[in-house]
Amino acid sequence: MDSKNVGFPEFDLSGKVAIVTGAGRGMGYHIALALAKYGADLVVCSRTTSELERVGDEIEKLGRRVLVQQMDVRKIPEIHTMVNETVRAFGHIDILINNAGINLPQWAVDVTEEAWDTIVDTNLKGLFFCAQAVGKVMIEQKKGKIINISSQAGSVGIPYRAAYCSSKGGVNLLTKVLAIEWATYNIKVNAIAPTFIETPLSKAMFEEKKDFREFVLGNIPLGRIGKPEDVVGAVIYLASDASDLVTGHVLLIDGGWTAH
Ligand SMILES: NC(=O)c1ccc[n+]([C@@H]2O[C@H](COP(=O)([O-])OP(=O)(O)OC[C@H]3O[C@@H](n4cnc5c(N)ncnc54)[C@H](OP(=O)(O)O)[C@@H]3O)[C@@H](O)[C@H]2O)c1
Repeated sequence: MDSKNVGFPEFDLSGKVAIVTGAGRGMGYHIALALAKYGADLVVCSRTTSELERVGDEIEKLGRRVLVQQMDVRKIPEIHTMVNETVRAFGHIDILINNAGINLPQWAVDVTEEAWDTIVDTNLKGLFFCAQAVGKVMIEQKKGKIINISSQAGSVGIPYRAAYCSSKGGVNLLTKVLAIEWATYNIKVNAIAPTFIETPLSKAMFEEKKDFREFVLGNIPLGRIGKPEDVVGAVIYLASDASDLVTGHVLLIDGGWTAH
């Protein structure tokens, strides 16, 4: 067979515009830089402008254009402003990485209404309304990729995380509903579900409870906690043309935790 007739996957994101929520630090920071490295222009969002400006500078150093948009995903008017500003600056949106998220670990008997609302409003409601606002633009374009950053906690119960697991389980099913509804518009909607990854969010958990690291490692057959770099490869794949027949999928990056 002649190799000229062989199709090779396309991972290049040149000319594409990607929005990353929660891009100021942790996983979102690494995802934003990786998307820029693969050629995308970026819109970076979170509540902390100083962190966004830092990642914005680094994206510009990679030769890409960047829009810094301070916003809270729990505030729907701020989501609409961010999407309008993106369209005004770039004219189109190719990729949404719904990454902003929080966790406030508590025993189920101690969960307050305020903590429940903060977690679910950020991780599930905010994520949905970002997808809805961007989805409307993508429906007009008849093209787009939405990647929801879920968690293995959306597939298995983890103690001390009633609200968090509930929110991420919701993200997994929401991913499938949007994939079905928007397939007709050539919009692919997938989720990535990592195990514990070394970020500012998880650092506090490992410091707070001394035996927590052993509990986590005891559940990961591959025997190590994840790094943001373990996640970004999947983001690039799902954001690129290489994954064009993939939609409604939840990709676990969990070192085997959920294989038990
Ligand atoms: N780290 C892990 O072990 C792990 C494992 C599985 C899944 N995840 C998921 O991965 C995602 C990123 O987690 P991470 O560990 O990188 O967390 P992180 O280090 O705490 O970073 C979270 C980012 O989200 C932003 N954010 C939080 N609330 C927001 C809001 N209301 N509006 C806009 N931005 C907001 C934060 O910025 P501001 O606070 O400045 O707004 C920050 O930039 C989350 O969805 C998390 O659930 C994490």
